[in-house]
Amino acid sequence: MQASRTIQARSRRGRGVLLAVLFAACAPAVQKSTELPSEAPPRVPAAFPSGWRYPSGQAVLFAEHATVASNSRLASEAGVEILRAGGNAVDAAVAVGFALAVTLPEAGNIGGGGYMVIRLADGRTTTLDYREVAPAAAYRDMFLDSTGTLTRAGIVGRAASGVPGAVAGLTAALSEYGSMPLDKVMAPAIRMASEGIVVDSALFSSILSKDTLIRQFGGAGIFLPGGKALTPGTRLVQSDLAETLRQIARDGAGGFYRGRVAELIAAEMRRDCPDGVPERQRASHACGVITTRDLEEYRPVWREPVRTTYRGFTLLSMPPSSSGGITVGESLNILEAFPVLPRFGSADYFHLVASAFQLAFMDRNSKLGDPAFATVPIEQLTSKDYARRLQKTITLARHTPTPEVATYSSEGMETTHYSVVDAKGNAVATTTTINSLYGSGVLVRGAGFFMNNEMDDFASQPGRPNQFGLVQGERNAIAPGKRMLSAMSPTIVLDPAGKVLLVIGGRGGARIITSVAEVILNVIDHRMSLSDAMNAPRIHHQALPDTLRYERGGIDDTTVERLKAMGYSTQALGKIEGSLTAIMRVRGGYQAMVDSRATGGAAGY
Ligand code: DON
Repeated sequence: MQASRTIQARSRRGRGVLLAVLFAACAPAVQKSTELPSEAPPRVPAAFPSGWRYPSGQAVLFAEHATVASNSRLASEAGVEILRAGGNAVDAAVAVGFALAVTLPEAGNIGGGGYMVIRLADGRTTTLDYREVAPAAAYRDMFLDSTGTLTRAGIVGRAASGVPGAVAGLTAALSEYGSMPLDKVMAPAIRMASEGIVVDSALFSSILSKDTLIRQFGGAGIFLPGGKALTPGTRLVQSDLAETLRQIARDGAGGFYRGRVAELIAAEMRRDCPDGVPERQRASHACGVITTRDLEEYRPVWREPVRTTYRGFTLLSMPPSSSGGITVGESLNILEAFPVLPRFGSADYFHLVASAFQLAFMDRNSKLGDPAFATVPIEQLTSKDYARRLQKTITLARHTPTPEVATYSSEGMETTHYSVVDAKGNAVATTTTINSLYGSGVLVRGAGFFMNNEMDDFASQPGRPNQFGLVQGERNAIAPGKRMLSAMSPTIVLDPAGKVLLVIGGRGGARIITSVAEVILNVIDHRMSLSDAMNAPRIHHQALPDTLRYERGGIDDTTVERLKAMGYSTQALGKIEGSLTAIMRVRGGYQAMVDSRATGGAAGY
């Protein structure tokens, strides 16, 4: 089965169940590297409430050898182009990363940062932290006004950006684990930026939803030519971005962090900033603080993955500066202390899962931060003993309130995750972000990309909620050179035989953690197929606000009433925006899927 196939994230009831059952049933005589252990029990078709909007049994891409899933079909195809040309999973991941900067300008980026988890077929594992850092001129209260009130300068405009890490990260990953030269893996991105891509309805809607922000800081010329959002079917050519990418392809990270591009970034920071503003009053929509020196000094960090286990499976995930790996691992460790979980969809099940998330988020919000600035108790938080102690604090059939209540606010937001597996079995899980949709809104003029607004991931005012409603502590306060705490959770799950089973991650701020954990529970505890596990209704609890959020139609009314009777305050959301992209190994190959809650596409061969 060599034909390359691409599939959009669209529902088609029925065929997926059939495929899943067939994969589970047909155990070929010869064991190949992609095969599941023969004792793996079959997957079980899921049953969702009748009002639930996503189907069970959805058809997904099947690839025999290698596959990529991302929030952009074009970017996934760029990755497969590299895989077919003999590149490995890291080559392809770097190609996808740069391609996303072109095809998904609202989230894919070179003006932000991210995390990569790598698991090589020979068993080696590592992670790369290329999260943004606070510029040298940043300080703890930079987003408080003279009355001590939080301003919006940490979310919108020039001061909202941390020093971007994406280019340093992608180039470092390639030189350490890739097999191809940089210009080769960047070729698809450069081609799409210079020749243009056809605007689809997803890009059109995202530009339209942020047109005021894009106009405010210089992006209109590219994305709103003549004052109107690029309509579906028109061509988006990004010449400045193409030139920036060419410079990186030629000079490596230096093409971004030194010279012309670095100077354009620093100039953009000063563009509308009035002369003579005292340094301590500079952080504002108009004045950014990133300098060429900040850019020159940026370095990504290689880190050991957070390695936890769940019912015999191994999770390899991101350590701090992301909270993702610890919080996913801690939640699952708490749940593992129950020998068996209640039936999916029952009030008892959602109660236990929400309680585990609530306890893990209490730790996340108070104990985690950049390990270069705060002591992070990774061993304790991921230990089974500690999880058992926490599990004993859960009262069956009764919600225990979180000690303090805060209000929840929400903003439009974007991040993007992509998963790659190559024909040798190397796997890469990468999540990258500029935080909100179109980041800070600031387009670096002449260089053609948006800057992030990652500074809002710091606790700008410890104890008060950020745009994700996360109430975080002193360990995540702003300091120069510090990485802001993230919730990104790129994760690789190995089956009990030590083979890659799932490559997963997503977007949605704090909801990334809970969504990733829920899909893992669906796959391991409920034995769902990949598409059922992804399409299943989700809940979210992040300790503060002390609210169990669920997807409208995903929990039936009787169950919601039971949860309320247990003491939960509940909130129905249109959808829980922890949209994921994932690859799962099945008999004879891989399935790859983009969340039905998002757009994008998988490709493979
Ligand atoms: O690093 C974080 O946790 C956030 N900046 C992620 C933002 C996000 O997922 C927004 N996506 N929809």
